[in-house]
Amino acid sequence: MCGIVGYIGKQKASPILLAGLSKLEYRGYDSAGIATIEKDFIKVAKDKGRVENLYNLKETKELEGTIGIAHTRWATHGIPSKINSHPHLDITESFAVVHNGIIENYIELKKFLEEKGYEFISDTDTEVIPNLISYFYSQEMEDSQNNKNACLRVLKAVKNACEKLIGSFSIEVISKYMPDNMIVVRKDSPLVIGKGNSENYIASDIPAILSYTKDFYLLNNFEYVILSKDNIKFYDNKLNEFTKQTTTITWDAMAADKGGYEDFMIKEINEQPTAVRETIGSRIENGKCIFPELDFSKEYLSSLNLIYIVACGTAMHAGLAVKNTIEKLCKIPVIVDIASEFRYRNPIVNEKTLCIFVSQSGETADTLAALKLSKENHAKTLAITNVIGSSISREADFAIYTHAGPEIAVASTKAYTSQITLLTLLTLYLAETLQTISQNEIREIVDELLSLPSKIENVLKNIDPISIIAKNMFKEKDVFYIGRGVDYVTSQEASLKLKEISYIHSESYAAGELKHGTIALIEKGINVIGIITDSNLVKKTVSNIEELTTRGAITTVIVNEATEKQIDKTIFDNVIVVPETISYLSPIVSIVPLQMLAYFVSKEKGLDVDKPRNLAKSVTVE
Ligand code: M6R
Repeated sequence: MCGIVGYIGKQKASPILLAGLSKLEYRGYDSAGIATIEKDFIKVAKDKGRVENLYNLKETKELEGTIGIAHTRWATHGIPSKINSHPHLDITESFAVVHNGIIENYIELKKFLEEKGYEFISDTDTEVIPNLISYFYSQEMEDSQNNKNACLRVLKAVKNACEKLIGSFSIEVISKYMPDNMIVVRKDSPLVIGKGNSENYIASDIPAILSYTKDFYLLNNFEYVILSKDNIKFYDNKLNEFTKQTTTITWDAMAADKGGYEDFMIKEINEQPTAVRETIGSRIENGKCIFPELDFSKEYLSSLNLIYIVACGTAMHAGLAVKNTIEKLCKIPVIVDIASEFRYRNPIVNEKTLCIFVSQSGETADTLAALKLSKENHAKTLAITNVIGSSISREADFAIYTHAGPEIAVASTKAYTSQITLLTLLTLYLAETLQTISQNEIREIVDELLSLPSKIENVLKNIDPISIIAKNMFKEKDVFYIGRGVDYVTSQEASLKLKEISYIHSESYAAGELKHGTIALIEKGINVIGIITDSNLVKKTVSNIEELTTRGAITTVIVNEATEKQIDKTIFDNVIVVPETISYLSPIVSIVPLQMLAYFVSKEKGLDVDKPRNLAKSVTVE
């Protein structure tokens, strides 16, 4: 939530900052702003609304400075308004700050500062930060023994301020007292530094600045950084200087662009064959799944009595999609939990529990907190993320990566199918180490995994019928998704996709559960989408759908080449056929037409598919 960008170099900062903000807009888009150092004062341009508004502001056009900070906001404290937009200045207008995160104790800090004569003009938690820095800077100045240069004084003031903050933050600070520098620091909110040639870049995440550099410094909590155009100096939490290595990012800058597609979401849906193929990558060798980065022995795995998969939203659905696979192939019970629930319910986690955390961004605050809790309880922790160097991947004992490439659209698509792919590969590795699976079974699943990209391609070639269904559906108020077993998981993910980008109310139900209450909502004309990909469950699901047809529902079913043969197609209004695969993997194929359906419905409604209202891509607040 919220995106921040910074630039320090020889070029005019504002165009670079605006371009970076446009790329980060998926993190929040209710207001945006920039501050630059103009000789001996700070100039700010900011307003309510999207980044494109900033381009046209008179104040933006007047920004000449070569050092600047910028922010796109997802409001937490204070309504979206010009005054609440970042950057925020201190009362003396000597320090400007952009902030991603939440300051939980801002009311106490505000009171403390007000008692010292500070005044506040916004409703934000952030405004305490520049004022705290200002307060500690003035204390530094009063210290007659203090002969530090101005930049080190600001650094000390930033450190003193950060030590007072409770919550999460990544911040960029510029000051008129250090006209050639910028200071950045993070705690539990993402921030990366891109190293350039006589210019350096800062951003909440890599894609925003990938077109300028591939060399990144990935910051840990409470690492303070002083940047100039030619230098980057790192300080620990005691302000001792240390050196840090860059990480080279192999993502292609083009991957973070729309590449000719109308929206990121449709591009990312179409990238799924590649994302799945890349995620399988070189993990299969001589018919076996290999994970050299994991050192799980048979003894350790045999000692486990529980595997937790903890995540949020779509990533949690990926966990649900493999729960049965792990239980069946590894013979270990699996609990899939929502991170925000897990962390507050004293889960039974100990050294006999393996905790797996799934997160596309690797920055989701609740997932990160759940991970820390599991570590405190002595469980081994394994991160599955899409972003190298993300907080979750660095915090966990082990990290493995999906190779979906940057996912920009708020609605997660290629990350989901890649997560199920990687979780399935992981399951095979665990089962093989435990010797709970035969070579034949492994071979069958591996062969199917390898055929998935072309099966997804087949689905993507046949999307016209889905766009027709969307044309008939986009004015609806309610849509129901139902399925059994793994198809129920697909129905949950499909329902989330629809509501998130089309704002149509939608429910997903285990097909057999409808008649225990929810069927009361079914009336003439309601759209019901059934997913039927498991040959063993066709009859049961079909009879549940018939119960709805009888009550006037308009029905669409997703079947595969095998289940198609088991149904009477005339009883449904629409039938979409997808390629057949084994049931462990069917969520990867059957979700694709439903992602497309949500996409087309959103387009029919004329909505912003990539940036749905009230949402942000990375949920870095709890
Ligand atoms: O980055 P993460 O995978 O941790 O994000 C988790 C959820 O916020 C995310 O999957 C969300 O549900 C998506 N917007 C759904 O499309």
